[in-house]
Amino acid sequence: MAAGGLWGTAAWSVRVVVAVPSRSPRQRSRLRTMQSTRIMVARPCLPSVSIKTSRTHTGARYDTMESAKLSLDGQDYELPVIEGSEGERGVDISRLRGESGAITLDPGYGNTGACESAICFINGEEGILRYRGYAIEQLAEHASFAEVCYLLIYGDLPSQQQLQDFSDGLTNHSMIHEDMKKFFEGYPASAHPMAVLSSMISSLATYYPEEEGNGDDDLNIIRILAKSKTMAAWAYKKSIGQPLVYPDNRLSYCGNFLNMMFSVPTEAYEVPKVVENALNVLLILHADHEQNCSTSTVRMVASSQANIFAALSAGVCALWGPLHGGANQKVLEMLEMIRQDGSDYKKYVDMAKDKDNDFRMMGFGHRVYKNFDPRATILRTACDEVLEEMGVDDPLLEIAKQLEDVALNDEYFVERKLYPNVDFYSGVLYRAMGIPTNMFTVMFALGRLPGWIAHLKELRDDPTTRINRPRQIYTGPTARDYTQVAQR
Ligand code: ACO
Repeated sequence: MAAGGLWGTAAWSVRVVVAVPSRSPRQRSRLRTMQSTRIMVARPCLPSVSIKTSRTHTGARYDTMESAKLSLDGQDYELPVIEGSEGERGVDISRLRGESGAITLDPGYGNTGACESAICFINGEEGILRYRGYAIEQLAEHASFAEVCYLLIYGDLPSQQQLQDFSDGLTNHSMIHEDMKKFFEGYPASAHPMAVLSSMISSLATYYPEEEGNGDDDLNIIRILAKSKTMAAWAYKKSIGQPLVYPDNRLSYCGNFLNMMFSVPTEAYEVPKVVENALNVLLILHADHEQNCSTSTVRMVASSQANIFAALSAGVCALWGPLHGGANQKVLEMLEMIRQDGSDYKKYVDMAKDKDNDFRMMGFGHRVYKNFDPRATILRTACDEVLEEMGVDDPLLEIAKQLEDVALNDEYFVERKLYPNVDFYSGVLYRAMGIPTNMFTVMFALGRLPGWIAHLKELRDDPTTRINRPRQIYTGPTARDYTQVAQR
């Protein structure tokens, strides 16, 4: 429940009490629907399979025997308390406005559950991240990115045949329409590849309009995953003036992307295995993170029944910001700035701690993880391995290590639980792999695509989905009369 500043003006109090759960007919039918819904999925490159909605086999939410009581202006309102499959609880306020005329206020949505979801579980306090129940540590160690895509989108790990068919789809659909090559010619060489990627994904809607018989969600899912890596690599090639390299069906998803990024027609190029493996891990670690800014954006746009390409393109735009996916680029820019300034990293630590200074230590802190980010732990080890195997000796990486040391020991950072986050290490690792700084956020987007798609699919498959439309507390002028411009 919200505890925003405006709440202080009214006599609100909330307490959890044990009461008989009150379920409306709509809630009851919703629960029934959730328990029984099965979806037939016909995929382009896959056999026709029957997939349960993820809610069915994760146990879904259930109404507890508890309710919260909210008192406002002398009247009590009973609010059902619901519980997720991992025990996290929420107060269901969906009927509050209808019954009391009041809304909750929660700027930044830190206390607001926008949906029920069976895709990703995070426990920020304990540093737990699971996709469809599988620990991120196990997936990073054993799975391929294609496998994780399938898991997130369809709810279960694929069988060998399903994985083969899915991977074939990702390979066979990786070329983009030849006309789209001309789009790349139109962008300035300085164009940020995130701008190019979001525009290109949006442009796919012009080639595969859902309303004209191309509305096969599964085929479009394959198309987006397969073509995005081509479009991302081409955005980079365009920016450095090199010829575009076509996908090569003999290569893996990660190998293909790296080949399109780094090979040139004039000489042989073999994707280094260590880099291919590191990319596989990076993409898996980025693949989902429940209701973050970009995923919420995708859900918001998709809730208006906009086409899949438009919703995912919006996700790319949301990810771009420096407080979200753009942070990995900012980390490297910060390290470079420190290096150019004589590598005096302590000066920047002091700046970050200074309340009168806007400077923030990029790559530190997280809204959800207040202990450690399990992805950062995995990447820290991967970083050491890759740097050693590739023999990278980089002054920026030295500065990164010194900053990490500060974060783990300085009182300011320890008190506020500001640990290095996934972007800190991913930036360092991408640099070691030869990925240019302005492509970092694009890499994040490629990894996050299956997560966005899984959420979009979950939202579309839920018959109770309504258009997302938050409310507000209006604080502007009250009614006043228009005055002619001459009188102002
Ligand atoms: N450097 C210095 N101080 C910081 C930092 C930082 N990176 N992050 C937070 N703080 C301080 C704040 O000033 C605040 O201090 P105060 O309590 O004395 O006022 C306290 O820590 C809490 O900070 P909030 O801004 O309230 O934390 P919030 O949860 O809103 O923000 C965020 C999380 C956006 C990630 C923030 O830590 C930040 O800006 N980090 C840098 C950007 C970054 O790395 N983003 C990537 C996030 S991970 C991802 O998107 C995959």
